[in-house]
Parts: sequence; C-alpha cells; structure tokens
Amino acid sequence: MYSEKVMDHFQNPRNVGEIENASGVGTVGNAKCGDIMRMYLDIDNDGIIQDCKFKTFGCGAAVATSSMATELVKGKTVQEALEITNKAVMEALDGLPPVKVHCSLLAEEAIHAALWDYAQKHDIKIEGLEKPKSDISEEEDEEDY
Ligand code: FES
Repeated sequence: MYSEKVMDHFQNPRNVGEIENASGVGTVGNAKCGDIMRMYLDIDNDGIIQDCKFKTFGCGAAVATSSMATELVKGKTVQEALEITNKAVMEALDGLPPVKVHCSLLAEEAIHAALWDYAQKHDIKIEGLEKPKSDISEEEDEEDY
C-alpha cells in the first residue's frame, strides 16, 4: 500500500526536532483527524533556507510527507519553498494512497505557516503567500507536545 520511500521516511524521518531562535515557526492542524504539525525554518539574510526541522503529532503519512518536505525546502529560497506543493512532496515519495492525500497537505501548509511567521517577524511580504487556514500557531505556541 505504501511506497518504499514512504516507509523509509516514516521509519527514519529526517530533520525531526526543533530549531532554537528559528527565523519562522508555523503550526498547522488538520481539523478532520486532529493531527498537528510544527515546522521550523532557519533562513539566512539572503533568504535561503539553511535548515528546516519538524515535529508532528500525526499519522505515518504525515510523518513521511513532513520528512520529505523538510528535505525539499533545505537550500531553497523562500520563493522556491513556497512553490513546493503537496503534489511535489507526494511525487518525491513515489505517491500516497488516495485516502492519505490530505495528510500531505499538512506538510505544505506547515511550510506556509512557518514562512508566514518569518514574513511577519521580518516585516516583509512574500509574493503569493497566504496564511493557511489550518494555521493554529497562536493557540499552540505555549504548548509542548
Ligand atoms: Fe491525519 Fe494523516 S490521518 S494527517
């Protein structure tokens, strides 16, 4: 049912953890299943993503997609990271079963939420970026999970 890449990223997720003093942090939640994902971005002065970490309280597909998403955004510019869709993440994982497609949205939205936080903190506008509807950063800020 799952591709080898999905199983690999689920069993050995890359970039799990937190970044202290991250340039941007975003937390998103899936209202249907209740799963939560937090993404941390370390962005240098040239707008290049130097590091990316995530924590998730979610299903295996959410773990695998966020792991792959962190790998994809590293080294990218903010604008390039914005263009990484859940479809691109799924393709990089050789696909997901249809019932799990919504899980991959959490990864894309978590990137957007972290970029949104970065833009707010640095008082910049990122062309094409909208605050994801699933952004629950404000509610979750004080909580640890
Ligand atoms: Fe909730 Fe996958 S079932 S993110």
